[in-house]
Amino acid sequence: MKFVTRLLIGTAFGMVLAGSANAAGLTVGFSQIGSESGWRAAETSVTKQQAEKRGIDLKFADAQQKQENQIKAIRGFIAQGVDAILVAPVVATGWEAVLGEAKDADIPVILLDRGIDGSPDLYMTMVASDQVLEGKVAGEWLVKDIGDKPCNVVELQGTTGSSPAINRKKGFEEAIAGASNVKITRSQTGDFTRAKGKEVMEGFLKAENGGKNICALYAHNDDMAVGAIQAIKEAGLKPGTDIKVVSIDAVPDIFKAMADGEANATVELTPNMAGPAFDALEAFKKDGTVPAKQIITESKLYTPADDPMKVYEEKKGLGY
Ligand code: AHR
Repeated sequence: MKFVTRLLIGTAFGMVLAGSANAAGLTVGFSQIGSESGWRAAETSVTKQQAEKRGIDLKFADAQQKQENQIKAIRGFIAQGVDAILVAPVVATGWEAVLGEAKDADIPVILLDRGIDGSPDLYMTMVASDQVLEGKVAGEWLVKDIGDKPCNVVELQGTTGSSPAINRKKGFEEAIAGASNVKITRSQTGDFTRAKGKEVMEGFLKAENGGKNICALYAHNDDMAVGAIQAIKEAGLKPGTDIKVVSIDAVPDIFKAMADGEANATVELTPNMAGPAFDALEAFKKDGTVPAKQIITESKLYTPADDPMKVYEEKKGLGY
């Protein structure tokens, strides 16, 4: 993934509701991946709120985790002649043809939260986190927390072939590369879901002496971590103590787990991708302003030192 220009935006709860009315009258198609995680549900509701606030007619299509459904939806949006298309690409590859069709139809495409392997000419901008950095922040936290102790890590990866699964793995591996005491001993996809996270963790625990050989879990999202926490408890171990838990997203449930001493760290991913996307679209429609190729959202680390119950209360009404 090449990023020609980058712009960093902050994460603020206030931003979720911020917006202007200048995009009123636009029709925007949104091809969403599905509802695999709490974070995804929040992104969907924030996008709908943002559209409503700005007077945008949002055509929403849920792809139920299938790229073929996303391609079909995008073709439908092109046929309807929408003013712009938002797409959260389930996997990184296979977008050239359909995004080429949108380009030929002069419909600007904005990628939300995930990148693609393909020419940056296929989209106007991408609103997403630096996913390699997210993995790095998680890995650096673990290396620091563990100190010199030997630590076997099990990893729950996101959806195979998705940009966050690829990049969060890379960032974490880079962060632990200099710590010879920290090693990933098992790594498997949990598909970004709670149920799969639990199931795969059960397998890890069985294969690793009931969990006695596992020092830490790194999950590419909080939902898989929450599922895994349940598996760890059912195996008779204490998540957060016997097995450290570090993950990504900062959904309300992980803060509850932190408050209960069952999770140790999370890296925040704002669900407000639509706000910056609509701002960019609005400026483009107004006077042709071309946005930066990537609008980067913040990746903030939270630990139990950050008053997890307070953050839980702040976040729980945001659509997660
Ligand atoms: O692309 C962002 C990731 O997708 C989130 O971290 C995960 O929860 C979601 O399913």
